[in-house]
Amino acid sequence: MTYKIVTLAGDGIGPEIMEAGLAVLEKVAAQVDFHYDIIPCAFGGAAIDQFGTPLPEDTLTAAQNADAILHGSIGHPKFDQAAIRPEQGLLAIRKALGLFANIRPLKIYDSLADISPVKQVAGVDFVVVRELTGGIYFGEHTLSQHEAQDVCTYLRSEIERVARVAFDLARTRRKHVTSIDKQNVLATSKLWRQVVTEVAADYPDVTLAHQLVDSAAMLLITNPSQFDVILTENLFGDILTDEAAAIAGTLGVMASSSTGSEVAFYEPIHGSAPDIAGLGIANPIGMILSVAMMLETSFGQKEAAINIEQAVKQTLEAGIRTKDLGGTATTAEMRDAIIARL
Ligand code: NAD
Ligand code: IPM
Ligand code: MN
Repeated sequence: MTYKIVTLAGDGIGPEIMEAGLAVLEKVAAQVDFHYDIIPCAFGGAAIDQFGTPLPEDTLTAAQNADAILHGSIGHPKFDQAAIRPEQGLLAIRKALGLFANIRPLKIYDSLADISPVKQVAGVDFVVVRELTGGIYFGEHTLSQHEAQDVCTYLRSEIERVARVAFDLARTRRKHVTSIDKQNVLATSKLWRQVVTEVAADYPDVTLAHQLVDSAAMLLITNPSQFDVILTENLFGDILTDEAAAIAGTLGVMASSSTGSEVAFYEPIHGSAPDIAGLGIANPIGMILSVAMMLETSFGQKEAAINIEQAVKQTLEAGIRTKDLGGTATTAEMRDAIIARL
């Protein structure tokens, strides 16, 4: 069987990290006899420049027919005031593919503890389950000179299905879910808390705690090791996962998977990093660990995924670091160091 992997390299550092991720995939695939075709498609700002839209029809069709999708990153400052933006393509593809559960793990490697600005990072190992196709991102947005509005809506069914993903995941881990909301102010959060509590009744072996998002943001810094599975809505999840990356010390190491329908989508959580794009110094680890998540989740290649994670760990233990980790290794040097340890 030859699998179809659609790649969306995107903008900024996207193509640089995608190249590194695919080099790792090539090496590991040969070792475990995994066969695939790469189908590169236009996406983001690059697609706006070429086709006038961040998500061309052909790209969406290819993604719908793929066995998995790998995304680098999109976004460019030149679109900051534009009506058509790269980010719209990312939201549109998440919605079109029904990718409602975004899984963003954070595990602190001992070898990187020194670059964390947080003191108590030993043993930090949690996963954020971020709702990805609802909430304020997808409500109506209106803007005039005098008034602006963003509507936030959640359906019971949308909360329930993502909550089940979090509880199922907790069962494979330390069996604890922290649901984060703002139910002291928001109606959507009141429904969120109610539905999550109801779902929890189906999982008596999993403990559930509720936390308001403002104090949760504080606890992530003061006591991050208490978290196992964090369940939250779209906007809070976006913000809290960049905060989680700060616990690691850099955005460059965080990977993610987005699931919900038949095909899953894998991407690092960071953006196109316009400040370092083209310099060849981006950290490819978030992309490489996204490749590992793809191999395990979409293709059942657990051994290959563990192999990649071990190679990343050993590379960091050997002191090889890109600039964001306080070192001097280039993207290519980090890529080669990881490949050498596979
Ligand atoms: P960003 O994540 O692109 O960058 C934030 C900071 O982290 C920058 O200093 C950057 O250099 C650094 N950084 C990020 N990834 C890195 C890596 N792999 N290696 C080393 N350093 C890294 O966030 P931003 O600057 O706020 O946004 C830039 C653009 O990216 C915007 O257009 C935004 O909309 C877009 N964005 C896209 C995605 C995505 O494609 N999934 C995610 C977030 C932001
Ligand atoms: C992310 C990004 C996106 C989001 C943007 C680029 C639309 O920040 O994937 O975290 O907010 O979901
Ligand atoms: Mn984000």
